[in-house]
Amino acid sequence: MIDIHSHILPNIDDGAHSIDEAINMAKQAEEQGIYTMVATPHHRNGTYNNSKLEIENHVVSLKSIFNEKGLNLNIVPGQEIRIYGELMQDIEEQQQLLTLNHTNYILVELPSDHVPAYTSRLLYDLQLAGIQPVIAHPERNSEIVQRPDKLYNLIKQGMLAQLTASSLTGRFGKNIKKFSEQLVDHQLVHFIASDTHNTTTRPNDLREAFNLVEQKFGTQTAYYLQENAETLVYGEAVLPEPPYQIKKRKFLGLI
Ligand SMILES: [Fe+2]
Repeated sequence: MIDIHSHILPNIDDGAHSIDEAINMAKQAEEQGIYTMVATPHHRNGTYNNSKLEIENHVVSLKSIFNEKGLNLNIVPGQEIRIYGELMQDIEEQQQLLTLNHTNYILVELPSDHVPAYTSRLLYDLQLAGIQPVIAHPERNSEIVQRPDKLYNLIKQGMLAQLTASSLTGRFGKNIKKFSEQLVDHQLVHFIASDTHNTTTRPNDLREAFNLVEQKFGTQTAYYLQENAETLVYGEAVLPEPPYQIKKRKFLGLI
């Protein structure tokens, strides 16, 4: 499998805190059946800034450590970019921002508590510039949980979205789990990734998530979601299934 979202690069964000931790994360990923992992450190999230060149250098050094240790996991560069007003300007300048494995896919994160008014316009501008936005873990955005139509409208506009494996396995609670299932069911997400930060509190549970998808939605859905990650990493065109609106959230009363 391919994991398109991870915080395995050590000492540059809230992910791995040491080389040893990164090695253990790589071993855990290999146990899941992952052979390629996109390293996506936080950028512009208010705490961490990791620009293109820094990330590329870190990937090169981690790869050589993995080689020495006999680890087969292939690490490729990426970035998890919190959306901000000047993002398009930085895209044009080509200094700060990094796409996923140098493809035309970019991983963008929304703030956790709302969907900024300029989101739709910004993501559209990216598309016009030939860059395909992938929205990181929409199920962890509280406004989208309350108003899934906000996500639907973005997906309808041609955006792609990535669900986090732990949301589906229940690590973030029952409501997020149920909402995640609805997102898969309504074809509002196109990838599942680990977003792993360490091996304990934010482990890599991609295998378990795919087992759940297979049980609940069938092998074909699991296969489709896995294939999309592969398609993305090779820079080919992901063909989205048509999205459906989430009409009524029956579990609203539980929040
Ligand atoms: Fe992340």
